[in-house]
Amino acid sequence: MAERIATARSTSNIAFIKYWGNRDDTLRLPSNGSMSLNLAGLETTTTVRFAPELEADRLFLNGEEVEGKARERVSEHLDHIRGLAGLALRAEVISENNFPTGTGIASSASAFAALTLAACRALGLDLTERALSTLARLGSGSASRSIPGGYVEWVAGTDHDSSYAETIAPAEHWHLIDLVAVVSETHKEIGSTGGHSLAGTSPLQEARVSDAERRLALCRAAILGRDFEALAEIAELDTLMMHAVMMTSTPSLVYWSPATIEIIKAVPGWRRRGTPAFFTIDAGPNVHVLTTPEHAPRVREWLLGMEGIVNVISGTPGGPTRLLEKHLIPPHFDQSAAASV
Ligand code: PMV
Repeated sequence: MAERIATARSTSNIAFIKYWGNRDDTLRLPSNGSMSLNLAGLETTTTVRFAPELEADRLFLNGEEVEGKARERVSEHLDHIRGLAGLALRAEVISENNFPTGTGIASSASAFAALTLAACRALGLDLTERALSTLARLGSGSASRSIPGGYVEWVAGTDHDSSYAETIAPAEHWHLIDLVAVVSETHKEIGSTGGHSLAGTSPLQEARVSDAERRLALCRAAILGRDFEALAEIAELDTLMMHAVMMTSTPSLVYWSPATIEIIKAVPGWRRRGTPAFFTIDAGPNVHVLTTPEHAPRVREWLLGMEGIVNVISGTPGGPTRLLEKHLIPPHFDQSAAASV
């Protein structure tokens, strides 16, 4: 029997029109559609090996075995895939991020996209990109957007099969640079899964959701027409609307640090004075500043010169989640013992 092992690599993504709140928390059916760009350079690589000798699923993240909630979430996701394949085998999941986790850079997006493709391939499931995207969504909503490549729209849909993401323009369409100003490398207190379930407690969520189609249309047109100014205006508005919802939910979620606010105030001024740059912020204090390759060195310098910025990480337009030939080795695998057999 062929070995049941496969490895996939996925990029993180940054949303210009954000996903915040679900109409169905279990299926992660979002309250509104969203639009994003995959980020090459901010990646997760995951090997999944199903084997009869394993009594439980095991998770290794960046060389350390992980137990508790994170492992359970991976196990539950594997259950969906085992269900589709009609197999009950347990798995070993070895995953590596090339960027710090829990900083507001969406590690769950690349993590669940890579896990979905690797686990499906390991169990011999040959799914379409759309089916992979719906499946990845069950693990983490934004993971649905990391399955297809480039500039991506997640169509909200009304049930499991109609809620999926697809490419609206390939990565090569427009060479933007995402400079992620890392404000703090500590783990956030309320992750996005908890946050989504609070969105409906904000009186502003209804207004944000009912205006979403308008913002999506503006964002789509800006991307397709490579109109930087139009994308900047709509992406900054959308971020501020999401954070207004977060801040006015019960309990209130304030993800910003003083340095976050300094960047929010500085970037539109840079733009007015002729440097193409705009900000967008996820569920954390870090700020993604989008710019063009020509202006990236200068914008990076400005960001590094600001107080409270510990690092700047860059991402460029990235492709779809893909399979790799070479598998990751679990940290407990004793190479010297293997060599002597
Ligand atoms: O996929 P989740 O549950 O981690 O949610 C992502 C939420 C935001 O990053 C704040 C917005 C987005 O659309 O990516």
